[in-house]
Amino acid sequence: MYTSENQKYLFELSKQLIERGKAGDASDASGLVSELIKVIEYHEWRYYVLDQPVLSDFEYDTLFRNLQLLEQEYPHLTKKDSPTQRVSNDLTENFKTVRHLTPMLSLDNSYNGEDLGDFDERVKKLTETEDMSMGIEYCVEPKFDGGTIVLVYENDQLVRAATRGNGTDGDEITANAKAIMSIPLRANFSKYGIQKAELRGEVLIRKDLFDQINGERSKNGNQLFANARNAATGGLRLKDPKQVRERKLDAFIYQMGYASNASGEDMLAQFSTHNEQIELLSGAGFKVPKLNEERALCKNIEEVVLHCNKWQSAREEYPFEIDGMVVKVNNLEMQDLCGYTSHHPRWAIAFKFKAKQATTKLLSIDYQVGRTGAVTPVARLEPVELAGATISNVSLHNADFIKEKDIREGDTVLVERAGDVIPYIVKPITELRDGSEKEVIYPTSCPVCKSELNRPEEEAVWRCVNSGCEAQIVGRLVHFVSKNAMNIDGFGEAYIERFYKEGMLKSLADIYRLDYNRISFFEGFGERSSEKLKLAIEQSKTNPASRLLYALGIRHIGRTNSKILISEVEKIQDLGEWSSEQLCALEDIGPIVAKQVVDNLGKAETIELLNELESLGVNCRRLESEKKQEISADAVLAGKTVVFTGTLVQMKRSEAKQMVINAGGKSVGSVSSKLNYLVAGEKAGSKLKKARDLGITILTEEEFLELIK
Ligand code: IVH
Repeated sequence: MYTSENQKYLFELSKQLIERGKAGDASDASGLVSELIKVIEYHEWRYYVLDQPVLSDFEYDTLFRNLQLLEQEYPHLTKKDSPTQRVSNDLTENFKTVRHLTPMLSLDNSYNGEDLGDFDERVKKLTETEDMSMGIEYCVEPKFDGGTIVLVYENDQLVRAATRGNGTDGDEITANAKAIMSIPLRANFSKYGIQKAELRGEVLIRKDLFDQINGERSKNGNQLFANARNAATGGLRLKDPKQVRERKLDAFIYQMGYASNASGEDMLAQFSTHNEQIELLSGAGFKVPKLNEERALCKNIEEVVLHCNKWQSAREEYPFEIDGMVVKVNNLEMQDLCGYTSHHPRWAIAFKFKAKQATTKLLSIDYQVGRTGAVTPVARLEPVELAGATISNVSLHNADFIKEKDIREGDTVLVERAGDVIPYIVKPITELRDGSEKEVIYPTSCPVCKSELNRPEEEAVWRCVNSGCEAQIVGRLVHFVSKNAMNIDGFGEAYIERFYKEGMLKSLADIYRLDYNRISFFEGFGERSSEKLKLAIEQSKTNPASRLLYALGIRHIGRTNSKILISEVEKIQDLGEWSSEQLCALEDIGPIVAKQVVDNLGKAETIELLNELESLGVNCRRLESEKKQEISADAVLAGKTVVFTGTLVQMKRSEAKQMVINAGGKSVGSVSSKLNYLVAGEKAGSKLKKARDLGITILTEEEFLELIK
């Protein structure tokens, strides 16, 4: 349908139109409308037909909104087949079509506090709230990212379920709805005099179950679902309810759209707020967003903004996919006063989260050499806004990653940044290539010292073989002074590079031989900063030996292994005498770590360096606190494993882990059937759920503290 050339042109044009915004004066409005239609049609095809969007939702919405605004301003330019004239529709031929009891509209969108402020002002005007400083009460809940479901109950029985369809008519999917375990087949509406009710909600798959389903599909060679939403909406349309059940769908109910008694009279009027309705539904056995967690009653729009922002940051920990929050006027009389447009209610608005994905251009690739000589390719990107941050570099990990994804310089790439996860490239958009993209030729020599690069068979990274390479030396120095290593405050990369260039830092020991008098004359320094640096360096001399061992930057000797190793010896140098067999006999030390200890600490050069450091006053001896603690077999957690999840409020995570070790246990990262305890802090998500499913003992923070007391 679209050639690659054409796609490239439409993509570039979209970006220009997004940048340009709604600016259209009468003279070129017509041209602008045609261009917007052209690009919107293209993006709808990529999204709905191919399921491969190349724009973020936000970018698409911007284009769509600009077209709507222009058409409003110049109604004669509104074409019958404009994308804005399409009623959104999920009807298919396989299912019977049924009419909803009340039509289901869409929601208007907002993207920031300012938009929400404007919405609040409109609500105040519509509800004739004279005192503009008076807060309107809003109920705020997640905007679930799944498939809409409309349920009809008659005489307390579920009699019909349908998809949203075009808002007026939907596909009848009653049998499938009955296979969703969180949808009650019976609910006590008669208690409230309700004979017939229509409820609206969203069908979703929990994120961890979705991963499992895709894992299975990959094992069986089936095509993977692009995302949890597709797996859920596809699930609603399966022909066989048994398969629906296997997909383990869930349904959250967020609105009562219709309620009448046996005489057909409106029974919604008995409720005064939206929240009251949701509480009733919760009491009747429906799954609803939890009050004071994901659902909140906010006294005014400022509280709404806080709740929305809080959930924007917390969305990754929530077990279901959500793409925003929905803000609803809580009072139902006020909702009536606000009314509706033909498209959406005026009493509600969606607050859309910032996009997690965006497309941008990969300009070039740089190669960085780390302290162990590992070469990391880094993509330089045309800066792009992603979930609230500007991204201009992303790591490409290694040569295999580039090859597997077929990433080329000049490609348009899809970048993702989810929660605290480091941004990464999902894939290149190959359809947007025009032939000018360059295949990546991985370097064969070190980009810094030009030495040969070497890649051991079992490893993914190429390494510079020259331990005297400037990049490696500087990398080792930076690591040595870093927070988790010798923790030399204020001694950052910039200082290290500077002193290295001045010839003052050739080896790690030189850190303790710095000429502070000379430094105080450097530009930007002075006596005070030079004194401060001296103090921090002096202080580091008394660090525990395990810090020094870790600071040496030996591969696989992280903080935990350093502590284990030091607990066995009087001073670091003693480790030089240990054989691989002796090391492997230690609990938690395997052959890979043992080899590194033997290869590095068994080397005369390393021992010389340590002796040199010691003679400069740096502590190499094990402190009393670093001695191995004898743990008796009857220690409370002897032989037990513990996982911490969620936010801990009574203790730091590092403290909690230490407590587990002190009590003879082991703190591990993931939940498995062998796990003994899961300690759930605030906002615990998928790990808690998984532990529950596996029947693992779950402890609150208090219970954990009580247990180890
Ligand atoms: S209220 C009159 N609340 O968003 C519209 N909708 O266009 C009432 N959605 O596909 C909708 N979470 O399925 C509402 N907490 C929530 C929602 C929600 C997701 C979906 C809904 C529909 C779209 C609204």
